[in-house]
Amino acid sequence: MISQHSHRKDEHVSLAEKFYADNHLFDGLRFVSTGLPKYALNDIDLSTKIGPLTLKIPFYIEAMSGGSAHTKEINHRLAEIAKSCGLAMAVGSESVGLSDPTVSDSFTIVRETNPDGILFANIGANHGVEDAQKAVDLISANALEVHVNTAQELIMPEGDREFHFIKNIKNIVSSLQVPVIVKEVGFGMSKETIEQLLSLGVQYVNVSGHGGTNFAAIENFRRPSKDMNYLEDWGLNTVESLLESRSLMNQLTVIASGGVKSPLDAAKCIALSASAVGVAGYFLHEIIHKDNDQIIRDINEWQSGLKSIMVMLNCRTIADLQEKRLILTPELLSYLKQRNLD
Ligand code: FNR
Repeated sequence: MISQHSHRKDEHVSLAEKFYADNHLFDGLRFVSTGLPKYALNDIDLSTKIGPLTLKIPFYIEAMSGGSAHTKEINHRLAEIAKSCGLAMAVGSESVGLSDPTVSDSFTIVRETNPDGILFANIGANHGVEDAQKAVDLISANALEVHVNTAQELIMPEGDREFHFIKNIKNIVSSLQVPVIVKEVGFGMSKETIEQLLSLGVQYVNVSGHGGTNFAAIENFRRPSKDMNYLEDWGLNTVESLLESRSLMNQLTVIASGGVKSPLDAAKCIALSASAVGVAGYFLHEIIHKDNDQIIRDINEWQSGLKSIMVMLNCRTIADLQEKRLILTPELLSYLKQRNLD
């Protein structure tokens, strides 16, 4: 019989696709281009660092899948694609895989398929050190994502109603040997939250902002009464979250996710402070509508697209792109002013 957990994983996939839509999240940001490039396309270096890890490509497959037979298939395909392109990849929350051995293969398949790839384990912040270590060990992960998802849990009919995030994050960060990335799930992070995470010893955050996959809408749809739709716009969007993080980028590594659907979106995230960019909903949409070869071609296009953008900005490296200033709309300038950000 399919467990409640596995059923939820399948529902998340089908609802994420049902609500998948275009967004205009990054339209309020523009680059100033150069007509006189210094570099050739072949000079551009897309590699980036997350602590001790070097990613060949700065965007990667963000946490989504695992925990059921269907999501095992998705993880298998994602891992084949990640291997073929040299992309890093995160698995979805492994808590179900730790408590139900019949579905742990939906996670381990990723490491079997891609033995040498960079893999991120994933666990909720209501779990303690022991589960965090098990999540890493299950897939021999190179890093661990610990997700904070208060809004999702509170809207989820069967979700958590109390939160031990602060204590758990502090313990996990001080106990694990791999980099620990504290990650939102599409509700964004404020400067105050990031500062608090820093004070807990966190060195890597993924702001995962509003504007892409919307877990308030997904969980509200799963509620029998569908009565919490007033929270569907909850959170800071990805651009706002990155603006919040910008003054802290010298103190910790910032990763972006939330609504990224093109190399230009990824470039804008990097110029706003991100060292790497996670992409979830877009890759799920591709998995559902395209075969692996088409997706691999698309990812290769993304790489050459990002390189082209960097040529037009006279940026040879990701660090150069992180230094670029963007032109902001009056709304974003007002946001900066009201939040006392520079
Ligand atoms: C997610 N996401 C997610 N995040 C996480 O940390 N653990 C998880 O188990 C899941 N599960 C999950 C399932 C599905 C189907 C999707 C689409 C997403 C959240 C994801 O990693 C990311 O933070 C958000 O989806 C925002 O990025 P996109 O989707 O807008 O690119």
